[in-house]
Amino acid sequence: MRGIKQIKNIRGRKILIRVDFNLPIKNGKVEDDFRIKKALPTINFLQKKAAKIILITHLGKGGDTLAPVAEVLNKFIKIKFVPDIIGEKTQKAVRNMKNGEIILLENLRNNAGEKECSKIFAVNLAKLGDIYVNEAFPVSHREDASIILLPKLLPSYAGLQLEKEVKNLSHAFNKPKHPFLFILGGAKFSTKIPLIKKYLKLADHVFIGGALANDFLKSKGYEVGQSLVSDTNYGISKIIKNKKLILPDYVVVKSGDKLINKKANEVKKDEIILDNGSQAVGKLASLIKTAKLILWNGPLGKYEVGGARSTKEVLKLVALSKAESIIGGGDTVTMISEMNMEHKFSFVSTGGGAILDFLANGTLPGITALK
Ligand code: 3PG
Repeated sequence: MRGIKQIKNIRGRKILIRVDFNLPIKNGKVEDDFRIKKALPTINFLQKKAAKIILITHLGKGGDTLAPVAEVLNKFIKIKFVPDIIGEKTQKAVRNMKNGEIILLENLRNNAGEKECSKIFAVNLAKLGDIYVNEAFPVSHREDASIILLPKLLPSYAGLQLEKEVKNLSHAFNKPKHPFLFILGGAKFSTKIPLIKKYLKLADHVFIGGALANDFLKSKGYEVGQSLVSDTNYGISKIIKNKKLILPDYVVVKSGDKLINKKANEVKKDEIILDNGSQAVGKLASLIKTAKLILWNGPLGKYEVGGARSTKEVLKLVALSKAESIIGGGDTVTMISEMNMEHKFSFVSTGGGAILDFLANGTLPGITALK
């Protein structure tokens, strides 16, 4: 990958920066600005060199405006929001840009061409700029027009954060340090099978938490009550025999209005598993203490409904450890931001699903497209 420091004659050139400002928004307000903060070094670098910067991003599945994102972005850096993507308004705004100015275009997914990976849409976007920069690691696993077609139409470069993501996350599969502890939470078992299989080979211990653990507990023959489970458990019976695999032996369940800490094999039919139990965190604590590399993706409980405790406790334990710590996943990162702990880890990724694909395949379509 070529990085932005290799771009020559930046002054006055129009640079399309594909960022990922797909931020959590509630009641019209941005809840977490982590991804904005992480894109700023690239934006600042190019602005100082007097580029004309055009920021492009998606938000949600399409249909939403980026106006709330523009408002937050403006607290960090002066930008002008253009509520248009490739139309006349945008073309005029780009024509009138002065060196060092920044504009943010409207949600790319408001044009069907983005998700359909339309060549025409990509060509129209390319007409707006002279250079393309990918600073959107979290969406680089999507074969969208602005991710895989645009870099083929313009000279293309990797943003500073994208480079850091690739470098740091590669430590997981490129001669990892040992003992290597991989912690995997969240849900969607079927999408995580390849990852679990791969890291059962690469890591020394693979701890499974979150709703993912429910599938394993169910496969062990335990009652999981009304807990969230996957629709498929293909391949699980083989994985479960692996000695490196560690499951929570204690869970927190919602029983009526109460939260109860209990043995994982004592869950009742009407209960819902919300979190790892405190003894399970204790088990993880000793592995965290001895690990030299900790890779963690996905929350360990249903954090939005009272299952945040074990994730917070484990975050504190990892923060204290001397191991290289690489953490990611949207929900976990939101918690890290809330707890103001980012500086305590070796690397906090901006990615969600993109991390899983990168860890499983060693690259992403958006990264390959830059070469
Ligand atoms: C993310 O937030 O994980 C990325 O922006 C990708 O979003 P998507 O899953 O809607 O493609």
